Amino acid sequence: RNVAVLLAGGVGSRVGLDIPKQLIKVAGKTLLEHTLLALHDHPDVHEVVVMMTPGHTDAVRDITRKGGYPKVTAILEGGETRNDTTQRAIDHLAAGGDTAQTRILLHDAVRPLVTPRIIGECFTALERYPAVDVAIPSADTIIEVAPDDTISSIPPRASLRRGQTPQAFRLDVLAKAYEIAAGDPDFTATDDCSVVLKYLPDEPIIVVHGDDRNMKVTEPIDVFIADKLFQLTGIDLPRARDEAGYRTALDGRTMVVFGG
Ligand code: CTP
Repeated sequence: RNVAVLLAGGVGSRVGLDIPKQLIKVAGKTLLEHTLLALHDHPDVHEVVVMMTPGHTDAVRDITRKGGYPKVTAILEGGETRNDTTQRAIDHLAAGGDTAQTRILLHDAVRPLVTPRIIGECFTALERYPAVDVAIPSADTIIEVAPDDTISSIPPRASLRRGQTPQAFRLDVLAKAYEIAAGDPDFTATDDCSVVLKYLPDEPIIVVHGDDRNMKVTEPIDVFIADKLFQLTGIDLPRARDEAGYRTALDGRTMVVFGG
């Protein structure tokens, strides 16, 4: 079984509203609904589990109650950190089935423009690899800085990527990595691949090519950018966000911009 886990357990403090940022409406729907549709409607996804900010699960229930989401099997509260939220999802799935037969794809609720190609390629990659990340090349030079803000290194850009989500795993592998991490008092991470990389270093993590549109809404300006991207791709994006649809929309836009 292929399970998609929607990570929506955060509060969005950097956006700074009094609601979690995944409940902001853009292009007629909350970010959470856009993302949920993208995962839910993908043919390779058999089941969807939503991990929501504590105290806000009713907002998700209001969305799914309207119908059209038969694959949603659980709406649970997230944990203190993103990794705590993942741990809760692992526990839930491990209690309900054979971990060796389960594939888990974790996606940020605040990346509403994920494409069907990315989701499909993650599951395909899992046929050969135990873990999958999604990333894009960096146009900017990435520099490493010391605590005093001086540069400590400038790694060659060709070998660097910007990590996105989804990230996908064989559930037994991810569960094992988290189990080892739980015994490490110094454990810190901000994503799930880094947990596998650190605690199961022999397991290869393949990288699938992401997409510039698959941005994360992190700061207030990102809400504006996401809104503009939705305008490019059309309002009913989840059902029309394939490459062809996007290209057409982009071409039309380019003509407007450059054709005066
Ligand atoms: N997330 C989660 N559980 C947490 C924290 C974050 O499921 N305890 C999710 C967020 O809901 C989001 C994704 O992880 O979809 C990426 O995290 P981030 O952008 O850092 O979200 P927030 O933690 O909400 O933002 P902030 O750090 O600004 O508070």
